[in-house]
Amino acid sequence: MKAKLCSRNAHKARELERLLPGWEIEPLAADDYPPETGGTYYENARGKALFGHARTGGGEWVIGEDSGIEVAALDGGPGVESARYAPEGAPAIARLLRDLDGVAGREARYVSELVCLSPAGEETRGTGALAGRIALEPRGTGGFGYDPVFVPDGEERTVAELGDEWKDRNSHRARAARALLAALAAALLLVVSACGGGTDPTSKRVLHAFFTQSPRGRTMGERFPHAAGSRGCQLHDGGKVVQATCSTEVSLVKPSRAVVTLTEAWNHGSAAHTWFFFITRSGVIESVVQEGSAPPAS
Ligand code: IMP
Repeated sequence: MKAKLCSRNAHKARELERLLPGWEIEPLAADDYPPETGGTYYENARGKALFGHARTGGGEWVIGEDSGIEVAALDGGPGVESARYAPEGAPAIARLLRDLDGVAGREARYVSELVCLSPAGEETRGTGALAGRIALEPRGTGGFGYDPVFVPDGEERTVAELGDEWKDRNSHRARAARALLAALAAALLLVVSACGGGTDPTSKRVLHAFFTQSPRGRTMGERFPHAAGSRGCQLHDGGKVVQATCSTEVSLVKPSRAVVTLTEAWNHGSAAHTWFFFITRSGVIESVVQEGSAPPAS
């Protein structure tokens, strides 16, 4: 799965690639991004995604992101204006510490909004926030922006000290990315169910092509049913055999395209992993979206 991130901020592209497993995120190079004039993160994120959608001619998945830091003592500011409060890094931190000089209540939160547009322009969004407080002085070298002065709730160290691994699990952008993946999965499942679950002869032909023509389809076909439905299967978690259910669905979304949905569920259905394969009806995989718990090695 490839997507263009519509942002000038290279840090965000690197973070998002780690946050969206299986996605290849490339920044959209453009020097004429429209000004961020929206009153909300959502409006700005959508504006960036629409700009990318127009710039790529609707040929690619695009993601717009807008984020900011909201400080209670500054009435929620700089908020959507975070990027324009002062140049990112040391100048922005210096201004924030100056504005909070002598202020006791230093509660703050980071917010991130992600808007994803499919090549056809269908919109999916995800929002995430991280609560914390502003430190008295900068500490640490990880992250970017306000990270050296942001101490998340439940922590004593700043995000810059906690580091990228911590940030990938807990940040506002990590939460927004998880919400986006869940929303994408829900939207795709809706398409699959609206298309009748793949029991007609065309669906059977498409599934046959998927499981015989593509190397990945052949490998997955060793444990997934080759027709729409479910069956018991075994996953291997280290040395341990895990009993699971493997299900196959297909939806015929366009005259030449289909989505094959494969789901493994284990631990009595409390854990599940789903692959959405966007394929041509002749079985060629064009892209893949994954969602859910990390699958046991199989
Ligand atoms: P924009 O979303 O590119 O308009 O800018 C958001 C601004 O918020 C950035 O320039 C940073 O100053 C700040 N910001 C957003 N996310 C983070 C983060 O993860 N760490 C630190 N600062 C951030």
